[in-house]
Amino acid sequence: MTAPVSLPFVFPSGAGLVRPWRREDRASLLRHADNPNVARYLSLRFPNPYTSADADAWFAFLDSQEDPEGWAIEVQGEAVGGIGVRRGAAEFAHSAELGYWLGEAYWRRGIVTAAVREVVPFVTERWGLARLTAYASARNVGSIHVLEGAGFVREGLVRARAFRDGHAYDHVMFGRVDPQRLREWMARYRR
Ligand SMILES: CC(C)(COP(=O)(O)OP(=O)(O)OC[C@H]1O[C@@H](n2cnc3c(N)ncnc32)[C@H](O)[C@@H]1OP(=O)(O)O)[C@@H](O)C(=O)NCCC(=O)NCCS
Repeated sequence: MTAPVSLPFVFPSGAGLVRPWRREDRASLLRHADNPNVARYLSLRFPNPYTSADADAWFAFLDSQEDPEGWAIEVQGEAVGGIGVRRGAAEFAHSAELGYWLGEAYWRRGIVTAAVREVVPFVTERWGLARLTAYASARNVGSIHVLEGAGFVREGLVRARAFRDGHAYDHVMFGRVDPQRLREWMARYRR
């Protein structure tokens, strides 16, 4: 049994924690997630409006994962956002895609940059990942800054990658490759 995830972080005006989602977070999840400004650049897996049924579906999804890939961002004792990865399979098993969101009331305090900086080494270690990918809408200046601030490299522009609410969105693709982990993956195949 692995220990529950608990990643403390500090941002310029306070401290926070990346930790597992709990059913008791339901009310704060709904409070912060049910916001079109939060959902705008996210996948349709994060709907708007964000209803009780969507919160239930999220908790059920986490329950279905043997080793959950999504965590709450807690600030002042409240779950105010989420962060996680989707691990790849087969030829993508060495990699994962990073995603995150934060309640609008907490934006621009350095919270997500600080959380990403803790989550990156953690997921790399936990699953031996050699590559992390992240996509940010080309219009999502905040997210682009987060990724640059967390050491991701801008790898290119993926045109019209997402379509949501009648809008096509170009995405900036970011990546982070861990050379040591990549060598480990390659060594496994040489055997
Ligand atoms: C994008 C988002 C995650 C940023 O989180 P955050 O905690 O507010 O980001 P930070 O405070 O760590 O900001 C990082 C940098 O971006 C800048 N920034 C943040 N939001 C910005 C905005 N809307 N416009 C311009 N700059 C912005 C910050 O000033 C900071 O700049 P610095 O690196 O020069 O210090 C948050 O706005 C959010 O959850 N948005 C909705 C969901 C979403 O878009 N998720 C990402 C999908 S790819």
